[in-house]
Amino acid sequence: MAQQTNRTVPPREAPDRRPPGNGPDQAADTGRGRGKESVGAGSGPGIGRGDGRPRLSGPAWPIVRRLLRYMRPHAGVLSGVILAALATTAIELAPPWIIRLSVDRYILGGQTGRIWWAAGGLLILSLVQGAVDLFRLYLTAQTGHGIVFELRNAVFEHLTRLSFSFYDRARTGDLMARVTADTDVLSDFFGRAAVIVLTNMLTLIGILVVLLVWDWRLGLLYVCFLPLIVHGQWVYARRVRPAMARVRRALSGLTSVLQESMAGILVVKLFGREPYQRERVDGQSAAYREANIGAARITSLWMPYANVIMGVGAALVLWAGGAGVIAGFVTLGTLIGFTTYIQMLLRPIRQTGMMLNVVMRSVAAAERVFEVLDTQPDVQDAPDAYPLPPVKGHVRYQGVTFAYDGGSQSIEALRNVDLEAAPGELVALVGPSGAGKTTLVHLLPRFYDAQEGQITIDGHDIRRVTVGSLRDAIGIALQSVFLFDASIGENIAYGNPRATQDQIEWAARTTQIHDFIRSLPLGYGTPVGERGVRLSGGQKQRIALARVLLTDPRILILDEPTSSVDAETERRMQQALAEVRAGRTTFVIAHRLWTVRQADQILVLRDGRIVERARGDAGRSAHETLLEQSGLYRELHDLQFQAEALGAKPPAAGAAIPAPAPGTRRRGR
Ligand SMILES: Nc1ncnc2c1ncn2[C@@H]1O[C@H](COP(=O)(O)OP(=O)(O)O)[C@@H](O)[C@H]1O
Ligand SMILES: [Mg+2]
Repeated sequence: MAQQTNRTVPPREAPDRRPPGNGPDQAADTGRGRGKESVGAGSGPGIGRGDGRPRLSGPAWPIVRRLLRYMRPHAGVLSGVILAALATTAIELAPPWIIRLSVDRYILGGQTGRIWWAAGGLLILSLVQGAVDLFRLYLTAQTGHGIVFELRNAVFEHLTRLSFSFYDRARTGDLMARVTADTDVLSDFFGRAAVIVLTNMLTLIGILVVLLVWDWRLGLLYVCFLPLIVHGQWVYARRVRPAMARVRRALSGLTSVLQESMAGILVVKLFGREPYQRERVDGQSAAYREANIGAARITSLWMPYANVIMGVGAALVLWAGGAGVIAGFVTLGTLIGFTTYIQMLLRPIRQTGMMLNVVMRSVAAAERVFEVLDTQPDVQDAPDAYPLPPVKGHVRYQGVTFAYDGGSQSIEALRNVDLEAAPGELVALVGPSGAGKTTLVHLLPRFYDAQEGQITIDGHDIRRVTVGSLRDAIGIALQSVFLFDASIGENIAYGNPRATQDQIEWAARTTQIHDFIRSLPLGYGTPVGERGVRLSGGQKQRIALARVLLTDPRILILDEPTSSVDAETERRMQQALAEVRAGRTTFVIAHRLWTVRQADQILVLRDGRIVERARGDAGRSAHETLLEQSGLYRELHDLQFQAEALGAKPPAAGAAIPAPAPGTRRRGR
């Protein structure tokens, strides 16, 4: 599947071969440019890729800054946390001070009573520090998860607004990884890293100031080692980030393969390809393991490096300080306080390394999350869009040309299509598969926007009206049916949640599924899908069709709505649909003669063009006219419809077709 999706993504070999790094010349790669959905395929770094190939990234700082912006609404709580951090720092700095005082004044001065006070002070300080830490850690975790919650909702909300072209390219497993695992990583950033880094900086500065004030010579000796630490951190961060990015991508590759294997489990088992599928999952899993080990190889370097540098510093201070005490220009208390502080310095410096991991992992994850957020929907409301007023259903295509965005090469699906459907007309689209029938009807609700030409409904250009109002006016039974993991009744009412039981049953009767639903022990309450009944293709189709009918659209699009339904049931459905259709402009992509015969207008498509067309009149139906032309329609008819036509008989008169239930013409929205 990776191969398939990548077909639409032009190879980015050239930049990929450059060594990873944060050089300024790579900044453009993560820049704004990737905004538009259609651009996303070409220059976007990889929604729908997740294939573990190394990828370049821009500087980390803009991403960190953008992450910090998410903390702004929580400024109140965060100030509390920062205050607590300051308090912790102050408290942390106190013990060596007390120790120095005790040694120099009380111990060496023989003041036993005072020593008790000093010891009590240390105890109280540790209790206070414990309480403050408790409060601080809880609040930071709470804030972190709160921000991630908001971010995750924002990402999903954004995903729901993206258009079909985005989903054509994206891989479900990859998107799921972005919404779940990648946002999860960020909770560490918001919850810990930001505050810990700040606290550590404060501790570090506090300690250095105290050291320099106590004894500037010893202090300077120690400060000399800091550039080594800072430089080390910089080098480290640069190497950690690409490693973390590889981990994120490998995880997304793994979820993609897992998702695909499970969605396609029927096919996997049917062809006995379980070993192959296991191999693929194993492969991705191994890639994930390797990425993690690779990252660990780098992250393991930090602690030893920092420890050695700090150890050398501590040894020097002890050596020089000890000599100083003997020579008499450093007090013993100062030396002991000094070494205590130096031990304390180890923690923030080590932690900063750990937090660098968190920050760099967050940057890698945030890049993937922001990539989704930065993708603009191809299809969106024009700035001056107005709601489509109630429509009669006069549909017109003028010179419509459309090509699917295939990255470098686009796939033309429609060329210069003209059509006009009067309100209430039944328009049948026929043609070989791949001719562009589905594409043609998908342009009407703006699933995609045509590159050329214009489509109007009652004279309103569909690009000028709001997408919501446009889709409200159109009911579409998609070629591939999808039912949710909910009850049958809920599935039928999906487009009109306020539909009454009567209305639901009316829709089910019309699509000839009511009797079947009734025969189930739980009736309309029967769950569908994983937890419930397995439905046949035809049953699903009829439920999906009932779902569309219930939204009571003025324009009805039926894309091979009965392809999986047996001929007899279909014929009964057709009769019922004939009534439902009244007063609605209906486009039907039909594969059976019965439907086509009734059509007011027939359009024959081939290779994206309308090659034949006919409109029925009083004397002759469109079907008869086209048959006489002996063109493609005749050919298709002879091939496809003949067998059926031979056995065709008009539907039994008086077949039980319930009339629409009263009040079904109401929309729930
Ligand atoms: N989402 C898509 N992305 C790219 N190409 C597509 C997509 N959907 C359909 N096509 C291509 O567009 C052409 C018309 O397809 P379609 O409208 O589904 O045909 P029909 O419904 O008549 O069988 C085909 O060549 C098909 O490969
Ligand atoms: Mg189709």
